[in-house]
Amino acid sequence: MLIPDIIIAIDGYSSTGKSSFARLIAKEFGFIYLDSGALYRGVTLFAVEHSLIDDKNEVDAETLVSMLPEADLHFETDSEGSKTYMGSRCIEKEIRSLDISRKVSPIATLPAIREFVDRKLRELGRKKRAVIDGRDIGSTVFPNAELKIFMTADPEIRAMRRMKEMEGKGEKVKFEDVLANVMERDYIDSHRKASPLTKAADAVELDNSYMTLDEQMVWIKELIADKFGDTDVKK
Ligand code: DC
Repeated sequence: MLIPDIIIAIDGYSSTGKSSFARLIAKEFGFIYLDSGALYRGVTLFAVEHSLIDDKNEVDAETLVSMLPEADLHFETDSEGSKTYMGSRCIEKEIRSLDISRKVSPIATLPAIREFVDRKLRELGRKKRAVIDGRDIGSTVFPNAELKIFMTADPEIRAMRRMKEMEGKGEKVKFEDVLANVMERDYIDSHRKASPLTKAADAVELDNSYMTLDEQMVWIKELIADKFGDTDVKK
């Protein structure tokens, strides 16, 4: 499918499948994929490894921000897709651990850290042809993105997806606990002071509660064809 040089911003609630969708879009259109959550997670891993966040999640923000350039956080693409690196080390797995998942929220509320991540994303997306997922991409980081998607799904369905994912990793969890965590994260993401999760006025909402990834691809191709004119949409 011929597609113009655009930025596709994909925001939405946690566990709505933003990254799977964004990765597939990038693969299909030959765009780069930028996972903004992975940058917040990478910053968190760096803070943990340099003892800049304690057991109570208190962060030495000033030192962390001054040291971040040496973390050299970036993305590299191999046959499996885009992966997150700290210098020459692939940190894709480590940043998904439970410990990092628990500590990333307080890190992501710090304005100086948000500025660092925003700057990096704008630099990486300057040539466009990029799909970027997160919470504030269409509202704050790329307010002029040509296509903005806001993803939602029923909390129970998201909790079920998350539970299956955790069970796949060998973790035993109760559905009620996962649902409570999904709802708590929705609340934190939408109520924090710095750049809360909000749907940009010009974003198109996608509720994928009952949609497969293939159906979502058909949906976005039609949207692109409608918005950018008659391209050779493959259905
Ligand atoms: O999407 P994720 O679970 O990998 O995101 C990790 C954390 O980073 C989560 O607490 C939300 C936060 N985040 C954010 O505040 N802004 C973004 N653009 C992306 C993620």
